[in-house]
Amino acid sequence: MPRITNKEKIEKLKNNIIDLENFINSAFHDLKTPLFTLEGFLDLFYELYYDKVNEKGREYLDIMKDSIKRIEIMITDIFSLFKCEKINEKFKKVNIIKVIKLALDRLQSVLVLNKNINIDFLKINQISKEKKGIFVLGSMNFLTDIFVNIIGNAIKYRKENEDILKIRIGLSEETDENYTFYIKDNGIGISKEYKNFIFNFFTRIKDKKNTEGTGMGLAIVKRIIEKHSGKIWFNSKKNYGTTFYFSLPKYKSKKNIKIKSK
Ligand SMILES: Nc1ncnc2c1ncn2[C@@H]1O[C@H](COP(=O)(O)OP(=O)(O)OP(=O)(O)O)[C@@H](O)[C@H]1O
Ligand SMILES: [Mg+2]
Repeated sequence: MPRITNKEKIEKLKNNIIDLENFINSAFHDLKTPLFTLEGFLDLFYELYYDKVNEKGREYLDIMKDSIKRIEIMITDIFSLFKCEKINEKFKKVNIIKVIKLALDRLQSVLVLNKNINIDFLKINQISKEKKGIFVLGSMNFLTDIFVNIIGNAIKYRKENEDILKIRIGLSEETDENYTFYIKDNGIGISKEYKNFIFNFFTRIKDKKNTEGTGMGLAIVKRIIEKHSGKIWFNSKKNYGTTFYFSLPKYKSKKNIKIKSK
């Protein structure tokens, strides 16, 4: 039998990865299409017959609608997770202040619906001005997802009886290689027993009623941060709030790298 060279093995692996990517892309679309059809017909049913069914029937319809939405979100989340695998191909110099502002823009619709929220990133903004930017090496889009998810959680898991939800975003540490950022809230907090599970897929704590979600948010965040060679952890006290910390690599100009390696 002819021997397969290393070059051929690499070529074969590359083709397998392309096949897998194509499969996932088409599975994503194939799964979404019947869901859109279901949703469309359900909307039509609502429009034409909602008034004609009794209360129990309406309750069933609402449950169906919610379930379809949940499956849709899950499929999108799983696909986002797959997309994380390839993000390091697009790493660039990214200003973290720009990322924070972009994340807040993306959260605008949530922010207008939830009153009395005070989001403060003045200090890190000041530091950034003094340093002429806090630059990390990463993907703008995925870094924005980190902030959107963690700030989104802070809003979702706020205390019902707290007048003002306070969210603080800042820089907690700087080393030669990394920046560590934090996002602190005064929300419901996370019990100690969940410390090791919170970043797992589909982990949800049933502490606050009527909060929607699939339990994928923090799993995706962790994956994104690890793809950036960073780490994420948190401190929390039940009923007092939570602080998420995460490290990201500093952007180093080629000039800096040369000096270091001399
Ligand atoms: N800031 C926070 N304060 C209190 N609990 C939190 C906070 N962030 C996360 N949690 C808890 O951790 C669980 C997992 O969070 P995660 O973001 O992964 O999922 P989710 O918010 O439930 O759903 P998804 O993000 O997929 O919409 C949440 O269900 C919640 O119980
Ligand atoms: Mg979440």
